[in-house]
Amino acid sequence: MSPMFVPGPVDVAPVVLAAQAKPMMPHRSKDFEEIFRRTAEKAQKLFYTQYRVFQGTSSGSGMQEAGVRNFVQEQVLSCVNGAFADRWNKCAIANGKKADRLEVPWGQAITPEMLADAIKKKSYEAVTIVHNETSTGVENPVKELAKVVHELSPDTLILVDAVSSLGGTKIEMDAWGIDFLLTSSQKCLALPPGLSLAAASDRAMKKAETVANRGWYFDLVLMEKHRLKDSTPMTPVMPLIFALDVQLDRILEEGLDNRFARHAAMAKRTQNWAVAHGMDPLAPEPYRSKTVSTIKNTKGLDIAALNKFLLTKGMRIANGYGDLKDKTFRIAHMGEITMSDVDSLLANMEEFMG
Ligand SMILES: Cc1ncc(COP(=O)(O)O)c(C=O)c1O
Repeated sequence: MSPMFVPGPVDVAPVVLAAQAKPMMPHRSKDFEEIFRRTAEKAQKLFYTQYRVFQGTSSGSGMQEAGVRNFVQEQVLSCVNGAFADRWNKCAIANGKKADRLEVPWGQAITPEMLADAIKKKSYEAVTIVHNETSTGVENPVKELAKVVHELSPDTLILVDAVSSLGGTKIEMDAWGIDFLLTSSQKCLALPPGLSLAAASDRAMKKAETVANRGWYFDLVLMEKHRLKDSTPMTPVMPLIFALDVQLDRILEEGLDNRFARHAAMAKRTQNWAVAHGMDPLAPEPYRSKTVSTIKNTKGLDIAALNKFLLTKGMRIANGYGDLKDKTFRIAHMGEITMSDVDSLLANMEEFMG
């Protein structure tokens, strides 16, 4: 495997890739329903939830859309501190919702104090928060953010995008009181793209029943009716469910705490290396991501040339996102990446830097 230090799609283990090639079967068959049920049950462990986990035939953005369509009739507060939080806000507006923005500059975190101020001023049906901003390497303090919402506005639902962190960082959905928690297959889960997973609380599902115009494809109330029979309203993405079945076994075999410790150690190693080379992470402490390090390019490295060099070693990193292109670069350390891969990458970067 040639390590790709990009924040998705990431490398997929050969055994997981191979699982997709299993012969197809009718999706309304006992054999498939059994696989679908067990992937959902194993996913509950990863989400730290007793609630349902939906397995959607879409990338993560589909579940961002499902979140705002199902749980918001009118008023939602979008916490925005990066590109994917901005997308979720635009998605809410595109779906006809009134979506206010609680916004801080890219690279900063949304703090509980800021959120408290915003929800004291106005009442919202839901807030959207991106746990790990892939564009900036900022991890928002979701546990503390959820706490202030529960204290100040207990009826407000908490919708969390963990596309680039779930499976790499511990996110305790039930203990933190998250109502909707979504992710994509192609990042920390180290699966090919095309599958989304999202868990929803009972109170969120109750609310969804009252929301008009939930659409059809992402109507979670309809999906729930089918899920209760270990099925979906539409044809599920069967090869990815086969792969998920194998990959969840591998993840649980590694042990969730071991997996989170591996990601945290790789983040620390990468970020300490960057600081030692005079390049600080964009995110301040204690908001640095465990899965993607966004580093300020204060040395003025030619990122395209760096990647060209790294490719000769079978590796690649990611440039900065959007306006941060060339001003930052991103090293993703997620999924199948190990500490020895990180060590090799950093050694190669040192060789490039001379
Ligand atoms: C934090 C975050 N949210 C949402 C998305 C969109 O996910 P997808 O590309 O799976 O639709 C991404 C993609 O990189 C992301 O990093």
